[in-house]
Amino acid sequence: MRLDKFLSNAGLASRSEIKHFFKDKRVLVNDQLVRQGKTQIDPSKDIIKVDNEVIKYKPFYYFVLNKPKGYVSANEDDKYPTVMEFFTDLNIKGLTHVGRLDKDTTGVLLITNDGKLGHFLISPKSNVKKIYSLTVDRDLDESLIKQFKEGITLENKEKCKPAKLTLINKRKAILELTEGKYHQVKRMMRSVGYEVTSLNRDLFAFLTVKDLKPGEYYELTENEVNELNKYYR
Ligand code: URA
Repeated sequence: MRLDKFLSNAGLASRSEIKHFFKDKRVLVNDQLVRQGKTQIDPSKDIIKVDNEVIKYKPFYYFVLNKPKGYVSANEDDKYPTVMEFFTDLNIKGLTHVGRLDKDTTGVLLITNDGKLGHFLISPKSNVKKIYSLTVDRDLDESLIKQFKEGITLENKEKCKPAKLTLINKRKAILELTEGKYHQVKRMMRSVGYEVTSLNRDLFAFLTVKDLKPGEYYELTENEVNELNKYYR
């Protein structure tokens, strides 16, 4: 593998910034100074250092994005900015979003190039917990709690699994789901006569946005990645 590719895949900087690392004599391979990005390395054997710090080879990357409004969950789009635009500079091959949040939905979105885990997490058998905060267009009724607990039937007669609805005030609620059907929250609310006017995903599995501002992301810790992988079992 080319050394410059290894460094940009490691998420250190963009390809063009990495060129300067070489010029500035910041890169060592097995403690030898290397001046050429095209140098071939074996990431499983060679020890790569930048500024004397070992750069670990990572086949997979995992991020939580605090998705802002106005961005579509897609790799490319003709009309709107995409959630992947926040990650362009990292230059990580195969990086994509796990599932979708609507253009007007905000909150936790997992981004990874671990396709196998990503697919599993959005499959119905994964039962991953999702928590949403929502606002609706008219006053909520206590009787909804029971309806959601028993399982809502969508407009196309599809039945949803039991879900936990907690009323926060007249127009705000928290909804806990273990499914991820297309536009599920909006469709569930619509089937009981409400339009969702704002929607935020507070939790996906055990992941939250922590203190990220909209449009910011963080890389998962090793522990968090291990926890996510437990969903396979
Ligand atoms: N349910 C929806 O209706 N929209 C989302 O973005 C996520 C869940």
